[in-house]
This record gives sequence, structure tokens and C-alpha cells, in this order.
Amino acid sequence: MGKDVIIACDFDSGEKTLAFLDKFKEVKPFVKIGMELFYAAGPTIISDIKERGHKIFLDLKLHDIPNTVKKAMSVLSHLGVDMCNVHASGTRRMMEAAIEGLTRSDGTRPLLIAVTQLTSTDEQTMHDDLLITSPLDEVVMHYAHNAALSGLDGVVCSPLEAGKVHARCGDKFVTVTPGIRFEGGDVGDQKRVTTPAMAKELGSDYIVVGRPITSAVDPVSAYEQCVKDFIG
Ligand code: C5P
Repeated sequence: MGKDVIIACDFDSGEKTLAFLDKFKEVKPFVKIGMELFYAAGPTIISDIKERGHKIFLDLKLHDIPNTVKKAMSVLSHLGVDMCNVHASGTRRMMEAAIEGLTRSDGTRPLLIAVTQLTSTDEQTMHDDLLITSPLDEVVMHYAHNAALSGLDGVVCSPLEAGKVHARCGDKFVTVTPGIRFEGGDVGDQKRVTTPAMAKELGSDYIVVGRPITSAVDPVSAYEQCVKDFIG
């Protein structure tokens, strides 16, 4: 599994996103498109970005009954995205249905990864709101294992959890890790941050980097620095 830096394109319009991507003349980075942009710009934003030569992680975090997820995944698969995701809490049956829907007639499919527990949910909230009484760490690893058993390719997690996920689910099970900041960079709303070099050391497969690149004075240099530190 190739290591890569994924830029989180958290913009509110297609125009802003394409203007940002215009800065990248030679290397065409792997980009993450989230709900806000996808719902604002519609599916054509995917073909526009693909035409420019970028790989796309479509971060829509599907969670519904298995049949609905299967059909929705089939639509996303035909948009030609390279990676997409579901909530592991949708159950193993839902994740298996997602894989079925994603698989194209020639047997190929985008990578499918799972969200375990959102980082906005802490142990107390999980207990009080969801009535899940196991420790958060255990729940995250259990959900990751369920994703692996369902045939998914990996999970979104913190770089600090990458080693544990690999130990439980195997080295080939990919870890896609946000919460990345340069040494001394603005942390913003992230709680636990890791540098690209540290994420490499901890065994992350993909780092997801938003504001340290999108808000940089020179986004192309910031991206190149991430690649140098993370991939070498
Ligand atoms: O700007 P920043 O580098 O913090 O962006 C991180 C990206 O990763 C955002 O798109 C954020 O929504 C996403 N993400 C995250 N933490 C998670 C899951 C996704 O920061 N646990």
C-alpha cells in the first residue's frame, strides 16, 4: 500500500477548490472532498478534479440500511473516486453491502475505509448519549476489527492509534490519519496533533492535511514539505 499525503479541500464552493488546485502545476496531489463541498458543488466537482489528474478520497461517511448504502456506493464508485468511507457503527452487514455496491463489473473498486468513533465523541458522551459502556479505545479497536472482517481496506484514526490498528488488523490494513500539524504550527480545533515526520514513524499509511496546506502562504511548498517529511 503506497503512502501518500491527502489534502483536505475544505472549501465551500467548486470555484474556490479549483482555484486552489490550479496552484499545483506539476504534481497533482491526492485530495479529500467532504460533505460541504460535495453537497454545494454536486457530483460534477468530482469529474472536474479527476480531469485535472488528482486522486480523490470522497469523505461522505455513509450510514444507513445495507441496501441503501449498497446502492449509494454503486453511484459513488461510478463517479470514479479512489477512496470513500462509511461509519463502522452501521454494522458488519452494512459494510459488506458497501463493498458489494462499490465493486464494479470488472472487479475493481475504490478503497473503502471506516470511521470508528468520531473524534468529537469522547468516552463520557459515548456512555451518556449512546449507552456504550466499554472503554473508547476498546470500541475503536473492535470497530476497526469489524471493518477488517467485513473486507474493508482500513480506518480513519489518529496517527497515535496507527500502531495498535496494524497490530489488531494487520499491516496491510490502512490507517488514514488526520490531526497533522507542522512543528509549532497553529493547532486550531485539533486536540491531539502529530507532525508528518512523527506520523511516518508511527506507521500511518496516509496523512490527511487541511489547513497547514490550504491556509499556508505558499500551499505548494507546504505540500512538498509534508511529502518530504512523510514519504522522504
Ligand atoms: O485542517 P485540518 O488539517 O485540521 O483538516 C483535517 C481534515 O480531516 C478535516 O477535513 C477534518 O474534517 C478531517 N477529520 C479530522 N478528524 C477526524 C476525521 C476527519 O480532522 N477524526
